[in-house]
Amino acid sequence: MIVDLRSDTVTRPSAAMRRAMSEAEVGDDVFGDDPTVNRLQARGADLLGFEAGLFFPTGTQSNLAALMTHCGRGDEYLVGQEAHTYRYEAGGGAVLGSIQPQPIANRPDGTMDLADVEAAIKPDDPHFARTRLLALENTIGGKAIARPYFENAIQLAKRRNLSTHLDGARIFNASAALAMSAKDLCRGFDSVSVCLSKGLGAPAGTLLLGRADFIQRAKRARKILGGVMRQAGVLAAAGLYALENNVARLAEDHANAGRLAQGLRDAGFEVEGPHTNMVFARIPAEKLPVLKTQFEKKQILVLPGPRIRLVTHLDVDAAGIERALDAFRSLGASPGA
Ligand SMILES: Cc1ncc(COP(=O)(O)O)c(C=O)c1O
Repeated sequence: MIVDLRSDTVTRPSAAMRRAMSEAEVGDDVFGDDPTVNRLQARGADLLGFEAGLFFPTGTQSNLAALMTHCGRGDEYLVGQEAHTYRYEAGGGAVLGSIQPQPIANRPDGTMDLADVEAAIKPDDPHFARTRLLALENTIGGKAIARPYFENAIQLAKRRNLSTHLDGARIFNASAALAMSAKDLCRGFDSVSVCLSKGLGAPAGTLLLGRADFIQRAKRARKILGGVMRQAGVLAAAGLYALENNVARLAEDHANAGRLAQGLRDAGFEVEGPHTNMVFARIPAEKLPVLKTQFEKKQILVLPGPRIRLVTHLDVDAAGIERALDAFRSLGASPGA
């Protein structure tokens, strides 16, 4: 069996999830009458402490719709240099929303210095874009950020009249790592985006959550972006199944990441983490050309690079971690090994 450590997005729906999908009651979600989508939106809102939810095909689109709902043309959002919305979403806020990003350095723990954030807020002056939004992320690069940082960030945003958005694609991983409910981690944000298709194992789908009036306005952004689907209940059913069955087990992924990190260290690799379900390992340059082919032969999938990111998820068990470690051991951590 293949051990795929490229991402937690590679999971395939289980037989039970597929059954839930095939049995889903559906309707036309453009008319708002898909009962399974409506149930998922209500469940997500309840679970995370918001008035309303909106189902999107992807996290990228949910984040972008949030940016476009918080900000108008010529507005600005403050965001981490390493944040997904800024770095890995093709500049959508600028390209499609006419929203200027103001990137700010992330510190090694994934946070931004709030003094840097405050200093980047523009004065009300026609020379400047209007700073409207502070966008944060948890987990970021797998790192779970503890609640006190967000309390301070939200307080700063309120004081300076900014809205707040949390890219909580992996908020349930943060919740498991910090032993704090996802609801408590989301408290005080104006909007949160939560992916169902990462560690939770659904084939697609993200929920955007916020106040009822915000979600009403976000529907227009989703429409502009082409994200309203018709009988989307077949996908929403997978999301509901994931929320019911795949949240508590995230701790197993974190334990597997721990095993992987320890095994790599024992084999002599320089390792960062584990950070929730992610481990980063340095690969000596001369090993890189052979890594992909050697690993593929052993049916271990990784994204090769000098700082390799390995991600655990519900389709990798402890035996799979052992096989991956064997492959790394045979590669060798030091030149010529
Ligand atoms: C932190 C974070 N936010 C958002 C996304 C975007 O999700 P999607 O791939 O569903 O567009 C990802 C995807 O990997 C992510 O890691």
